[in-house]
Amino acid sequence: MMFIITSFFSLKTYAETNSSSILMQPFPHISPEQKLNHSLGQALFEKLWVASPSSTTASDGLGPLFNARSCHSCHLNNGKGHAPTELQNGVEVPSFFLRLKQWPRPDSNNSKTAVAPDPIYGTQLQTNANINIRPEANLTLTYQYKTVTFADGTTSELRKPVYQLNNLSYGKLSNATQLSGRVSPSIIGVGLFDSITEADLLNSADPDDKNNDGISGRVNTVWDKTMQTWRVGRFGWKATTATLTEQNQSAFNGDLGISTPLFPNPYGDCTTHQVACLSLPNGNSPHMENLEANSEVIKVVDIFTALSAPPKIRNLNRETFKEGKKVFDLLQCSACHTSVQRTGKDTTFPELNNQTFYPFTDLLLHDMGQELADVGKEFDALGSEWRTAPLWGLSLSKLASGKQSFLHDGRARNIDEAILWHGGEGQKSRDSYLKLDKSQRSLLIRFLESL
Ligand code: HEC
Ligand code: HEC
Repeated sequence: MMFIITSFFSLKTYAETNSSSILMQPFPHISPEQKLNHSLGQALFEKLWVASPSSTTASDGLGPLFNARSCHSCHLNNGKGHAPTELQNGVEVPSFFLRLKQWPRPDSNNSKTAVAPDPIYGTQLQTNANINIRPEANLTLTYQYKTVTFADGTTSELRKPVYQLNNLSYGKLSNATQLSGRVSPSIIGVGLFDSITEADLLNSADPDDKNNDGISGRVNTVWDKTMQTWRVGRFGWKATTATLTEQNQSAFNGDLGISTPLFPNPYGDCTTHQVACLSLPNGNSPHMENLEANSEVIKVVDIFTALSAPPKIRNLNRETFKEGKKVFDLLQCSACHTSVQRTGKDTTFPELNNQTFYPFTDLLLHDMGQELADVGKEFDALGSEWRTAPLWGLSLSKLASGKQSFLHDGRARNIDEAILWHGGEGQKSRDSYLKLDKSQRSLLIRFLESL
């Protein structure tokens, strides 16, 4: 699974800027019409939705239960979100929420949903709500701390979140319901991910570790709501969604409470037990295809996310970059964080056909050990399995969103901590990292910050 990088130059379309808009520049080679769609999409990504009824039906439909009022609230300028600090009220940090899933599943294991929802609270905890209805609960986090010592005696402090729910408004959670923290990832190059062929993803998988490197990448097999068929998953921390449009539409529905062509329920994640929620007015309107966000809205939001260009790799010609890359390869980071990917020749966004790009992920699931695990499968992904996180733009999220955090639940406050949490198939890499001296470590980190 090792790749040798000969050149990073083949994709000439990477965004170059140093402002907070660095992760939302359109690819320069797209048509003027698509550039216009990209900016219309950006406006809708940033738009604050309001409750129904409102004076402008084009903007209403929020909630009744929701996590945030816009995509942008969580994916600020396409950058990463972060987790609440110790005892901070969760509602102040929309970019973090709890996935709820019953495990064992009460329904069939072949169900066409990633998880079985909590019977009352649904598939995610909404800590926010319109004025006539109570939010589902107050969420606070506490952290357990531990210290890790490097071979050279340096130490790093790690923190692991523990979740506390107070004021559950609609009764108890099911005893089977498991909580899993999720922080908003940055939205970089998702159109390129959408355009890799299934065959390429399946070819790069090595479920039985036939090449004996101790690393067995698997694909998640997920239900594609558009095509009504089982497909390779690629989006989300556990690769539970097959296509970009389904990911975007499920965000509209689950995070904002907005109906879309694929998710026509205007009450979002509100369940049949939440009677008050279901009795409130909704924003489905006849001139919007009886939806709150119709196919035109989805089309331009898809274009904004897909056609925002990834950042250009920096410091490429420096000696330190090459040295850092050597450490990265030596530690076998590249076995999962595959440098190069290619798109197919006939994809949803023709602008993205036949592109070579450098996301540093194989997009496959890996067992990352018990410390990072949650409980219960999501489609095929086990509790301990996560999609290899892309490493491009790692240091630029801070520029975009003013914050940074790493790993699925945002527990890592910097890159060093993220590496130190690697267990399972990543354990060997992590152990080798602990043996590096200070200068090798900083070469590695500076390399990662240049991606
Ligand atoms: C409440 C915070 C929140 C809001 C609002 C939100 N997202 Fe997300 N987004 C997330 C989280 C968390 C994930 C990861 C989900 C998971 O792994 O379960 C995610 C994942 C994604 C991904 C997949 C990225 C990848 O690399 O896999 C895309 C694309 C995305 N969101 C687009 C959107 C769009 C478009 C909107 C607005 C309609 C939106 N999001 C609104 C939190 C949010
Ligand atoms: C066995 C596969 C595997 C190996 C080997 C591996 N990683 Fe990872 N890496 C992952 C997965 C999977 C995640 C996401 C885990 C999570 O979110 O809980 C991740 C997450 C990360 C993150 C956090 C990214 C983010 O946006 O949150 C960084 C940084 C990282 N890895 C760097 C490294 C480095 C450096 C090495 C080598 C020392 C390495 N990884 C080796 C699979 C791997």
